[in-house]
Amino acid sequence: MNKLITFEGVDGCGKSTQLKRAAEYLRGRGEDVVTTFEPGDTALGKEIRKLLLAGVYVPVPETELLLFLADRAQHVKEVIQPALASDRWVLCDRYSDSTLAYQLAARQLDEGAAPLREMLSFAECGVRPGLTLWFDVSVQEAMRRMKKRAEAGEKATRLDEEVISFHERVSAAFEQQYALDTKRICHVDAAQGIDDVGDQVRLIIENKYGWAL
Ligand code: TYD
Repeated sequence: MNKLITFEGVDGCGKSTQLKRAAEYLRGRGEDVVTTFEPGDTALGKEIRKLLLAGVYVPVPETELLLFLADRAQHVKEVIQPALASDRWVLCDRYSDSTLAYQLAARQLDEGAAPLREMLSFAECGVRPGLTLWFDVSVQEAMRRMKKRAEAGEKATRLDEEVISFHERVSAAFEQQYALDTKRICHVDAAQGIDDVGDQVRLIIENKYGWAL
């Protein structure tokens, strides 16, 4: 099992805050940690992110999928693979499970189609997460948190502004992915307070990676 941990869930589930806390926790134990995110954490990816999320363009679902995958391949080869090769931990905010949930399921591209699954795996360049944390919270609660952030001045992305039925499909897809792969994906009750969620995350990491800590 490698040291790539991905953080997944609907917009507003709180995973980014928890990623920072998990990094602090690991660093506090003397571990070497890289934190990163998708889309957009390479120089090329920054440009792809703008194309995808700034809202200037509205790609058709096929283009949207291809751009997310282009960003991923660049990210894997430039950031994730080298970090793992140096035996560092990589905590990544979103990865292929997001593409499955947002593009294949919510955009209603043919979810089960084998060629699409193959494309996802092509873009991963052989790198699968050792552990995926799924931050499970109701879409209603997530929306409430997003609204709060917007009131505090955080700019929404093109996808944040999708209709509620879109976010419901994303949420259902994460649940389905979890049910299909409970070995890799761990469920986190993200409706709880920040500290409680942080404790859940720490316990999962300790259970999964006891050997490495
Ligand atoms: P971002 O501002 O990084 O927010 P978040 O904290 O929710 O991750 O926005 C990234 C958006 O891109 C988010 O709405 C999910 C979406 N996304 C996809 O649709 N497909 C993907 O493959 C990835 C990685 C992200």
